[in-house]
Amino acid sequence: MCGIVGYVGPRVATPLLIEGLKRLEYRGYDSAGVAVMNGAGVETVKESGKIARLEALLASAPIHGTTGIGHTRWATHGPPNQTNAHPHTSQDGTIAVVHNGIIENANVLKKMLEGRGYKFTTDTDTEVIAHLIQECFDGVLEDAVIEALWQVEGTYGIAVISSVDSHKIVAARKGSPLLVGLGEDEHFVASDVSAILAHTRQVVYLDDGEMAVVDRNGYRIIDLNATEISKKVAHIDWDLGQIERGGFAHFMLKEIFEQPQTVENTMRGRLLLDEATSKLGGLNLTDEELLSFNNIVITACGTSWHSALIGESLIEELARVPVEVEYASEFRYRNPIVDERTLCIVISQSGETADTLAAMREAKRRGARTLGIVNVVGSTIARESDGGIYIHAGPEIGVASTKAFTSQVVALLLFTLKLARLRDLSYLRGREVVDGMLALPGQIQQILDRAQEIENIAEEFKRASNFLYLGRGYNFPVALEGALKLKEISYIHAEGYPAAEMKHGPIALIDDLMPVVFVAPHDSVFDKITSNVHEVKARKGRVIAITSREEPALEGKIDYEFRIPETMDLLMPILASVPLQLLAYYVAVMRGANVDQPRNLAKSVTVE
Ligand code: G6P
Repeated sequence: MCGIVGYVGPRVATPLLIEGLKRLEYRGYDSAGVAVMNGAGVETVKESGKIARLEALLASAPIHGTTGIGHTRWATHGPPNQTNAHPHTSQDGTIAVVHNGIIENANVLKKMLEGRGYKFTTDTDTEVIAHLIQECFDGVLEDAVIEALWQVEGTYGIAVISSVDSHKIVAARKGSPLLVGLGEDEHFVASDVSAILAHTRQVVYLDDGEMAVVDRNGYRIIDLNATEISKKVAHIDWDLGQIERGGFAHFMLKEIFEQPQTVENTMRGRLLLDEATSKLGGLNLTDEELLSFNNIVITACGTSWHSALIGESLIEELARVPVEVEYASEFRYRNPIVDERTLCIVISQSGETADTLAAMREAKRRGARTLGIVNVVGSTIARESDGGIYIHAGPEIGVASTKAFTSQVVALLLFTLKLARLRDLSYLRGREVVDGMLALPGQIQQILDRAQEIENIAEEFKRASNFLYLGRGYNFPVALEGALKLKEISYIHAEGYPAAEMKHGPIALIDDLMPVVFVAPHDSVFDKITSNVHEVKARKGRVIAITSREEPALEGKIDYEFRIPETMDLLMPILASVPLQLLAYYVAVMRGANVDQPRNLAKSVTVE
């Protein structure tokens, strides 16, 4: 969602801030700005739209200063114009603030501050923080920030500078990620490690309720009582190449093409061939504990929710433990049946999604053990869960999730194998799954080598205004995910449905203009899906089918076909989702859409 970066050190701050903001742009990007100490005071420059526009403004009027903060915004309060862009400054212009999150009592605080003569010029909740810090300021910035934050309700990751107590950045976190980057004679603050990875790999993650006081020579972590806290320094092992496009037209395409490696990375060192099971070091559960759960709840949002649905089928089929999948946003406000005999699996690429984090905390509060299936190392969900499985897919920059999805499914497979082999899955069947998994990277590569075929199909359908995606069994969530990918990046309305359920509604939409994507590999429900293809064709729908072998039953019923390699039913979602990612990608590119940064979407949704 929004992004924060800050710099204090000997170098000119603005180029570093702009570079950091560009790396954060994928998180949220309707406007951006920087505030830098220019020697005389705090100078703020902000602009609506892309970072490139801010960069052009700064090129025409550079700011010289070595302490500064920057922000990319994804609007929550007020439209995404220049006025509402961050940083926001206090009334006397001495304090500048960037903020991620939402201040829930902003209206109350605003009334109080207006009563004391403060004038508000923006529609944002963040402006309240800037004025409040001015109101509390008595010479020491961190003291003023502490006093202000005691009055604030809601969520925040903030970074603050002051022209009076200059040469330092004060950052604070409650519900919105923040970290301090440690360099030689220089320090950074950032909401996401990618913003500062070009300069340091040593970071300190803030936890909720913590603040950082950072200057050129060092940093202190304190709580809201100003008590010092000692924190571990984490070492980041992603390299810069992983967050750059490396010759691909878009991050999304690069990430789709990385899947042979990322799927392999998720499995690396975790499959025990001789025992036909997996070894998962981070679960923090003994075998006895793993066997003691009565039920499993999986909670997630967006694409991660789709992988959860696949996980449900996997666990129930192989391990025979009842599983329920819930949208995190719904779970947290229900009265779910969760207790100490429940295992709650939380799936999140970013590890920061607000609803998912809140759902996990709710499950914990009710006594459940929590396991995070997370990509971003050191993220909040990774740190707060009782145990977990890192998917090791590397940084995913494209807003539409691709490689994280396939790796999440692989992580769920690894978990299922472990649990199922402890229960009653036979060695032979376990071994079949293991062998099938090992073949996946090569099979994904075979699909990618034929990307041109999908590009040709995209050419045919790029002008469609609706799409229907249908699948059954393991491939129903694949249909949902295919439809989500298309709507996210091409803005074409697309719906995913269980194929047979089509008869109960969507069939009314089918005519000769309606493309229907069938995910129909040769699996145990293939015969069933064949009749659904016939039903669509009888109504002149245009059928695109993902199949896995020549199918006489479908002869004359398919307009466009893409064949994927054969595998076990339960591994099929990993292969079948790849052509659908490519289809969405090519259609979006052909329609001129901004594939990596689709309108209104954010990579990491850190507000409720
Ligand atoms: C946003 C992203 C999606 C993602 C979802 C959940 O909506 O645009 O791609 O699937 O959040 O994110 P998470 O990081 O929790 O997997």
